[in-house]
Amino acid sequence: MCGIVGYIGSRDASTVLIKGLKRLEYRGYDSAGIALINGELELDYRKGKGKVSNLERALRKDSLIGTLGIGHTRWATHGEPNDINSHPHLSESGNIAVVHNGIIENYNTLKKKLIERGRVFQSQTDTEVIGHLIEEIYLASPDITFEHAIRLALKQIVGTYGLAIINKEFPDTIFIARKGSPLLLGIGEEEMFIASDASPVVEYTNKVVYLDDGEIAIVNRNSYKVKTIDDVPLTKEVHELAISLDAIEKAGYPHFMLKEIFEQPRSIADCMRGRINPENGTVLLGGIEDVMDELVNARRITIAACGTSWHSALVGEYLFEQLAKTPVEVEYASEFRYRDPLIGKGDVLLVISQSGETADTLAAMREARKRGALVLGICNVVGSTIARETDAGVFTHAGPEIGVASTKAFTAQVVVLIMMALELGQRKGILNRKKMKEYIRELSKIPSKVEYILEHNDQEIRKMASLFTYAPNFLYLGRSYNFPVALEGALKLKEISYIHAEGYPAAEMKHGPIALIDEMMPVVVIAATDHTNDKMISNIEEVKARKGRIISIMNDDNPEVKKLSEFCISIPSTSDCFSPVLTVIPLQLLSYYIAVNRGCNVDQPRNLAKSVTVE
Ligand code: F6R
Repeated sequence: MCGIVGYIGSRDASTVLIKGLKRLEYRGYDSAGIALINGELELDYRKGKGKVSNLERALRKDSLIGTLGIGHTRWATHGEPNDINSHPHLSESGNIAVVHNGIIENYNTLKKKLIERGRVFQSQTDTEVIGHLIEEIYLASPDITFEHAIRLALKQIVGTYGLAIINKEFPDTIFIARKGSPLLLGIGEEEMFIASDASPVVEYTNKVVYLDDGEIAIVNRNSYKVKTIDDVPLTKEVHELAISLDAIEKAGYPHFMLKEIFEQPRSIADCMRGRINPENGTVLLGGIEDVMDELVNARRITIAACGTSWHSALVGEYLFEQLAKTPVEVEYASEFRYRDPLIGKGDVLLVISQSGETADTLAAMREARKRGALVLGICNVVGSTIARETDAGVFTHAGPEIGVASTKAFTAQVVVLIMMALELGQRKGILNRKKMKEYIRELSKIPSKVEYILEHNDQEIRKMASLFTYAPNFLYLGRSYNFPVALEGALKLKEISYIHAEGYPAAEMKHGPIALIDEMMPVVVIAATDHTNDKMISNIEEVKARKGRIISIMNDDNPEVKKLSEFCISIPSTSDCFSPVLTVIPLQLLSYYIAVNRGCNVDQPRNLAKSVTVE
């Protein structure tokens, strides 16, 4: 979703901002803009609908020169994507420029009052009220400083914001504020960087300060002050960024998504590194060590997440119930939050989020905390809001995921859930030492099995993708651990290729979706040999009887599935409960190649955002 960058130092701000906005492109956006205070101490801006490269071209013709500025990529919420609605938005006088992530929920009321008092609005956005309001308060009295005016304006605003504000009267200062929308400050040598996530900052500095909700910062070239919205000064911890520049570049791959698919042998190994010991059959997850007793005694675990993370939560349900005999409920974070959930002391809410910023997941987490539950997290982004607000948790260590469609984050989330379920099962006495050793030995082989799948099936999947490039619909079927994989396969295909696809538990097909099957319908069956194999074969027969085109993801030892299928992708066997980490890989590749064949923008699919920071 929307992205913010800011710069103050001695470099050409326009170059830094454009580069920063390009780093934020992965989040999904529809327009971009920057505002600078130039050498004549005038505020100037360029903005417009479309890609950052359009803005860059416009700046080549008509440059903006200065060493302080702010920039934005917009993902439309209020008002269509067009030049006027793009950020920055200016105040009435044009002296103040604002970029904003989030939603101002009471903007209509504020806007009406501002119009009644004579302010003229240009755009349909909620954001535009901010500049007008700050300016009105600032000009109302000579005793009010600009910073004070910002704080007073923010008190009138209901909703969420990450804000960067400049005023030509203060050519050495950027003002930033946060409530519900992430913002960080990168500290350089006599220069400061502002961004909504770390990617625009990593190439300049690894020292960052994360703003928390209700905080504002006054940022100069050499110094910064952080305070609460009530003017209480704060001393903030300076964190060290762990990500490198390589991790956010394509490294020769045509798309981030393909790079991230092929990174999985390494990202899965990184996720397990130092946490499993195949020799003595133990798992140690330092991040939840202190709450293990509470987990062991929990009546049940509720898992809340969205999208792909919700699919890994579904795998988690099977895992915790089988390996640790702990009842699990899986919730869409957005639904959990708004239905008076029965959760309280003695319960555990586990939230799963790649970005750690998903608004619905964050809201679910805060609701559960308010009701007294222990709140745990599985997150990829270190320093993210969810990672910082949970009582305890486990990082997936998958590295930055830039492609909008989640791939390596999913496999790492499932691996964390496997490790959590194994550790819990062992502590509860459900898994003995021998069983633990067997599981952990097998788990340690997963990265090489993923590597095998990538090496041996890539060509076959490309061929298959070219045959099905123009199929209008797809059905994905799986049972048990591979039912969530069917959902995930369908989601991957629809989000990047725009083909309609549905995932179903294979047995559920006969209760409705079977009506869709004819000789035009590709049906992807995830038929890894497991305890549901016989039933799965019957379901495949049902598809075949209706002339559906069967593509199966199967193990070598399954001649019956092979015989029934038009296309087979054969993958190595593993324990039933680890199977999703392997079966999902061919599905990621299939959707990737189909999307590429269709000429889709794989890394930035239409309408989607990497980090969904509105509810
Ligand atoms: C799918 C996808 C989304 C996210 C969802 C949750 O490929 O990327 O469905 O999984 O928006 O995001 P996180 O995991 O960041 O909370």
